Amino acid sequence: MALSTFVSRLVKEFESSRRRSRELFERAKRVLPGGVVYHIRFFEPYPVYVVRGRGTKVVDVDGYEYVDFWMGHGALMLGHLPKPLLEALEDVKSVGTHLGFPNEYAVEYAELLTKILPNVDMVRFCNSGTEANMYALRLARAYTRRKYVVKVEGGWHGGYDALHTAVSPPFKGPESAGLPEEYLSLTRSVPYNDIEALEKALKAEDVAAVVVEPVLGAAGCIAPHGNYLKELVETAHRYGTLVIFDEVITGFRLALGGAQQYFGVKADIVVLGKIVGGGVAGAGAIASRSEIMELLDHVKIPDPRKRSFHGGTFTGNPLTIIAGKKTVEYLSKNPQLYENLDQVSKVLLNELQRACEEANIECFTTGARGMIGIHFTKRRPFNAREVHELRWSNDVYRALHKYSLLRGYLYLTEKNAHLLPSAIHTIEEAKGFVETFRSFLFELKRYLSRS
Ligand SMILES: Cc1ncc(COP(=O)(O)O)c(C=O)c1O
Repeated sequence: MALSTFVSRLVKEFESSRRRSRELFERAKRVLPGGVVYHIRFFEPYPVYVVRGRGTKVVDVDGYEYVDFWMGHGALMLGHLPKPLLEALEDVKSVGTHLGFPNEYAVEYAELLTKILPNVDMVRFCNSGTEANMYALRLARAYTRRKYVVKVEGGWHGGYDALHTAVSPPFKGPESAGLPEEYLSLTRSVPYNDIEALEKALKAEDVAAVVVEPVLGAAGCIAPHGNYLKELVETAHRYGTLVIFDEVITGFRLALGGAQQYFGVKADIVVLGKIVGGGVAGAGAIASRSEIMELLDHVKIPDPRKRSFHGGTFTGNPLTIIAGKKTVEYLSKNPQLYENLDQVSKVLLNELQRACEEANIECFTTGARGMIGIHFTKRRPFNAREVHELRWSNDVYRALHKYSLLRGYLYLTEKNAHLLPSAIHTIEEAKGFVETFRSFLFELKRYLSRS
């Protein structure tokens, strides 16, 4: 009751100060379903419409500036409009944005990626993380000649049919209208951080692949417990199943070589998105050993029905490729950026946690380098189910989101508090958010004590 009063007060403050965003929302609703281009970008009663981004900040149509902890869904590892991206935009002026023929830029980028990503000999570029997951699964099915796939509850791999299930509670059935149950008949799901459940699923069917985000992203920024990933790989291999690491968020973020490098484990196929495109649309790739990737090779396998299909009009376009390559090169030449991201992440993870303890509020941080989850739960959640089942309020997430926004910090969403700092966020920005969070908890307690 009292918490909803807190939310109402914040919403009022929001509405009286973000008038131009409201105007845009009214217009947008008529031409864009829900007034947005992607529903997760919406928040109540309407979202802020952003006009530009520079470095770690974005500015909205009402002129308010925010420290951006969302960073283009985690794609902007070097912030908004960084030098490598500006250089790429300059380069494409003389190259073209879309050649539609084989080109040296894709060759060079693939060469670079095979040096940087552990356990990878070959790469194919895709146009999004969703698409990359789709092709990765098809490739795994072709390689193993098996049909079933196991995914992790809460795992978000984009809107591709076979993986668009068990994303949100109750973690079963299609996550979308228009997606027939039959399309999910070969998909099984298991809780994250649970090897026993995985083994049971692998025993039950002939599974082509286990698809897993090495650190759960959209489901709560939850890190693997103990040797979970290592055991997952060993267990899968024992049953002849391939492991697909969906590194759309973790790739180039946890480390230059992604989760494989960070956790010291080897996946069979790596799916990339977001950062791989250097902040430009069309970001996606699949990467693996030659023995698996050769199933895409039309020279070795001329019969299209024996080959695994991959392709697309904008695949490997120079705009995305040059931007991606310059970004990854920049990251590889500036390892101190990872050190910085580490420090920023530690400040957020540790100091937000300390603030909760000092305020005696049930709240826990989870995550890893560059991925931070804040959970108003009875204890620290271990998997996606717990993120929902252990929470003591939904309103508190809305309140924190609005409170932070009104004080100059943006992140998504108002249903789950996740921060994806870039490698150029500063310790001061992280501490600024911690201070805001502390004052939020202080006010929260006043409202809670009234209920
Ligand atoms: C782990 C993960 N996989 C796949 C996707 C889908 O990528 P895209 O939105 O580029 O299709 C996302 C997007 O947020 C993601 O976080």
